[in-house]
Amino acid sequence: MKLWEGRFDAPTAKNADIFNDSLPFDKKLWAVDITASLAHAAMLGCCGIISGEEAKDICDGLSSIAEDINCGKLEIEGAEDIHSFVENELVKRIGDTGKKLHTARSRNDQVATDFRLYVRGSFDNLKDSLKNLIEALVQKATEGLKAIMPGYTHLRKAQPMCAGHFFNAYAEMFLRDLDRADDSRRRCNIMPLGSGALAGTSYPIDRNITCELLEFDGPCANSLDGVSDRDFVAEYLFDASLTMAHLSRLCEDLILYTTEEFGYFEIADEYSTGSSIMPQKKNPDIPELIRGKTGRVYGHLFALLTTIKALPLAYDKDLQEDKEGFFDAEKQVINCLDIMAEMLGAITFDTARMAKAAESEFCCATDVADYLAKKGVPFRTAHAITGKIVRSCIEKGTTLQKMKYEDYAAFAPQFGEDITAIVKAKACAQARNSFGGASPSSVKENIKSIQKRLRQYR
Ligand code: ARG
Repeated sequence: MKLWEGRFDAPTAKNADIFNDSLPFDKKLWAVDITASLAHAAMLGCCGIISGEEAKDICDGLSSIAEDINCGKLEIEGAEDIHSFVENELVKRIGDTGKKLHTARSRNDQVATDFRLYVRGSFDNLKDSLKNLIEALVQKATEGLKAIMPGYTHLRKAQPMCAGHFFNAYAEMFLRDLDRADDSRRRCNIMPLGSGALAGTSYPIDRNITCELLEFDGPCANSLDGVSDRDFVAEYLFDASLTMAHLSRLCEDLILYTTEEFGYFEIADEYSTGSSIMPQKKNPDIPELIRGKTGRVYGHLFALLTTIKALPLAYDKDLQEDKEGFFDAEKQVINCLDIMAEMLGAITFDTARMAKAAESEFCCATDVADYLAKKGVPFRTAHAITGKIVRSCIEKGTTLQKMKYEDYAAFAPQFGEDITAIVKAKACAQARNSFGGASPSSVKENIKSIQKRLRQYR
């Protein structure tokens, strides 16, 4: 049965139906659709718009539909969308009373409400997966407290750092994502129900009742905006996109650091793949795939932004395009977060190799300049002197570590015998104990602070 058949003489063409239908993908909304309808029916009963008995019959009917879908007894098929499916099924079960459910409601405020309920749950799932990943990163940072590795700028070795610093940097990114999801959820949790088709309703509804039953923070204050707003979907897609950006950066670093060339980390066999032709290969398919899926999630964000661009008020059918991309983005981002958290547990460190790398390529040069500056040489001059030392090392094929005190003293009288202990990677990392710095003690503080902030999110 079509919801609008009264006005029409001829049925819609088969292909027009297929093109128009959203049931194949919006059937995912069945549970929230029934939840919202239960609240709507209860409110209609409370306000005397339908009788208490009618409200009860409708609610019982809706509950029996939910039960049957849940246990697989009822297939979701044969309707235009999930809203028509549930309503048709209700009428099949309880007769004409079922036809009263749609009083003071339109599918426009219904779909907007359903989708908000669904996306609200998606934000909660996103938050859970983010929390899980942050915990895995903090665990890795703790394991890395004793290890020293080189930090990079321009992908050139820059300064030694405690390896835990690397993992905490990502934990910070995902903490921001967690905060963003929490904040977006707050804006998502506003109720369009009661907006009607676009202009509200002449029935004496009480939107506070439905609001409370559905645990929304409040009813939307403008019905035109209520039925047409999809900002909450765009926000989820943006939040997911930025999370994917962060994941893709982590993936790129992991791919690099597990190469034969770097060799700082190793991904366990359980999370690695081989080659069909090259027997020696151990490939990082999982981080590569996460990196690859980033583009797909960005695509869904841009698709929705384009759909809502220049869309006239209020509801337009274009808005039906808000769902498929969202469902896919949600699936991808959650899968990626969860597999990343799992894979991190399977990563081991080659601490000897990391430590060696942290002392190579003059990673300790800044500390030589800082040494002089602390002895009163203006930093710019100290920088120039150290630059000359590095150049002379390159020419002679030696290193800052192999240089003796006398060799340093030849460049500046401020050098003392202690300079040879300064140019050790471990000492350089330990020295950077400013707040937020890369020393093991600063990293330990960072871990504590991340754990404390993490606990603030439910
Ligand atoms: N399937 C529709 C959607 O997802 C439901 C709303 C239909 N409203 C309408 N006025 N045709 O947007």
